Order: sequence, then structure tokens, then C-alpha cells
Amino acid sequence: MTSPRLAIVSAMHEELRALLPSLQDPRTLAIAGRTFHTGTMHGHPVVLVLSGIGKVAVATTATLLITELEAGAIVLTGVAGGIGRGVRVGDVVVARHLLQHDMDASPLFPRFEVPLTGRSRFDTDRALSDALATSAMRCMARAGELLGQAHLVDFSIDSPLVHDGLVASGDRFVATAAESAALARALPDALAVEMEGAALAQVCHDFGRPFAVVRTISDRADDDAHADFSRFIAEVASVYTRVIVHDWLQGARSR
Ligand code: ADE
Repeated sequence: MTSPRLAIVSAMHEELRALLPSLQDPRTLAIAGRTFHTGTMHGHPVVLVLSGIGKVAVATTATLLITELEAGAIVLTGVAGGIGRGVRVGDVVVARHLLQHDMDASPLFPRFEVPLTGRSRFDTDRALSDALATSAMRCMARAGELLGQAHLVDFSIDSPLVHDGLVASGDRFVATAAESAALARALPDALAVEMEGAALAQVCHDFGRPFAVVRTISDRADDDAHADFSRFIAEVASVYTRVIVHDWLQGARSR
């Protein structure tokens, strides 16, 4: 029996580009302006695709992955702004729960609650997240060798860590210290902000599909958040994603 197809969803072109060369027997399928790349990696049937930016884009991508591409589990990779204490540029965050920080139908429903679902937080799949966190820790232990000393110095990356916990998503690039401080006050346990994860979480919850979200911290969601953004994705986040995904898929075969 073949194992169910794993979907790996990249938030950024550079990350998809870093994974595509290792896709065996590649084929493409175009639906709704998206290109789905199917094939195998380390013996697993996979589909690789760009998420698009923002909650609606990833919700559409995830729905198509489940309904048209028969994805059995979905992993989203990308970058995020660190808002938790000690979450630094160059660290990796593995989400255990996700929440939409811009969802606010108060006073009809509590702030952050997705109306009519009775919940604000959506949990990731534990086994999938555990496996990815293990792969991320192995990657962090080799960060110097993988990135080179010059990049570590350039991006002030020093002994990078893996964190796991709450990730907050919204249709905003958080780029002021004031906004990130306000988010940290409203969500004291939030580790990072990004723009897609909680939408993927809601779709996967509706369809009963396991999912996980792994983000490299590219900035501190403050006034400097946009500086070096593209270079960081190309030179750090894409390297981490490639190494983490390969390590995870190699391990997944023996699990
Ligand atoms: N992705 C990476 N950095 C981010 C930020 N500061 N806000 C939202 N999404 C991000």
C-alpha cells in the first residue's frame, strides 16, 4: 500500500526553489493560478506548492491540496517575526497551536474566537510537530556549517534555538515595535507572528487533516522588520527549510 501524499507548502518562492531539485518523477498540475508539483522525495509521495501570501491565499491552497491533490498531511514552512521573549532572528519556531490575531468579532464573540466554532486556538498534529522539531534541532546544531560563519555574523545568529508553542497569524506584516508590543501584551504566550499558519490550521481542522507549521525567525516584528528580508530568506530560511524537510522525510520512512 502506498503511504498518503504529504504536502509541503512554502510561503516563499526561494524555499520552493530549494526543494524542487530533489523531487523525483516531477509532474505539475495547474489549478486556480497555483502550480502543484507532484512526485516523490525519499520514497514518499509528495506535493510541493507555494502557499500564496495571507490567510485567504493559504486557505484556498490548502483546500485544493485536500480536495484535488489528496494530501494526507500538510506541512507549512516559511518565516515569521519573533515576538516572544528570547525568540531571536535565526531561531526556528514549531507551532503547537495557531490563532488569528486579527480576528475580532467582539462584542458578539470573544476577541480572537473564530465565530461559530467556539475556539480561537487550533492545535497542530503532535507527532508531525514532534518529528519536525527533532529535525529542526538537528539543523540548528549544524547551523554554522550549513550557513557559514560569515552569514552567522552578518545576521547576528548565535547558537540558534528551536521553540515550540503559539504562533499568531494575521493579514498584516507587523513592522513596528508598538504593534508587536501590543500583540505580545494581548497574547503573552505567542512566540511569533506570520500571515498564513492559522488559516491552514482552520482548513485542516474542518477537513480533519493533520498539519504542522515550521517557521524560521527572520525579524523581531519591529521597526527593522523589513531590513534584509529577501536576503535572509534566500541565504538562511531556504537553507534551514531544505535541511529540515529532508531530515524529516528521511526519518519518516523509518517511522
Ligand atoms: N513574516 C516574517 N516576518 C513577519 C512579520 N514581522 N509580520 C508578519 N509576518 C511575518
